[in-house]
Amino acid sequence: MTKKRIAKNLGKIKVKSSKIHGRGVYAKKHIKKGEKIIEYVGRIITKKQSEEIAERQIQKSKRKKKRGAVYIFELNKRYDIDGDTPWNKAKYINHSCSPNAETVDEDGHIWIIAIRDIQKGEEITYNYGYSFENYKDHQCKCGSENCVGYILAEKYWPLLKKEKNNLSR
Ligand SMILES: C[S@@+](CC[C@H](N)C(=O)[O-])C[C@H]1O[C@@H](n2cnc3c(N)ncnc32)[C@H](O)[C@@H]1O
Ligand SMILES: [Zn+2]
Repeated sequence: MTKKRIAKNLGKIKVKSSKIHGRGVYAKKHIKKGEKIIEYVGRIITKKQSEEIAERQIQKSKRKKKRGAVYIFELNKRYDIDGDTPWNKAKYINHSCSPNAETVDEDGHIWIIAIRDIQKGEEITYNYGYSFENYKDHQCKCGSENCVGYILAEKYWPLLKKEKNNLSR
């Protein structure tokens, strides 16, 4: 399945280098809580295609001596979005443990939506929602006060705390 979607660019963002990692997405103007910022677009692909593409993207990053940038968005249990297209600026949004945006699925369209007011010039971030499995492979450099140290869905934070406590005993 290879359906292409073109980005609805609402003109609210720009891409530039980020303190968190590589490039990031920044607000070009004040964005109000609840506002749509940008749609995450790309080819709809199967999980099998997704694994192959992710591996290729990791190898490409290694060749360019960058740390693994993978542009795959998990759509549902069957399909993902291959976001590695020039017209998908949302692919540059970094993860934060204290994000100012979230992703919302509106009938299969993934929107990045502000969860609080965002000032002009602020980096736009959301929680990638990664699972606990292999969490140590995904160190977080978001720099926020409550950074848990790993790119991890918030629902796993208590589990992480428990594991850290057990290790320190
Ligand atoms: C979709 S890319 C985000 C854009 C990326 N900064 C770039 O320049 O291509 C996802 C990758 O960015 C990096 N990344 C995003 N958020 C991060 C964070 N909070 N801490 C460390 N690395 C992060 C990880 O390597 C992750 O696999
Ligand atoms: Zn963090």
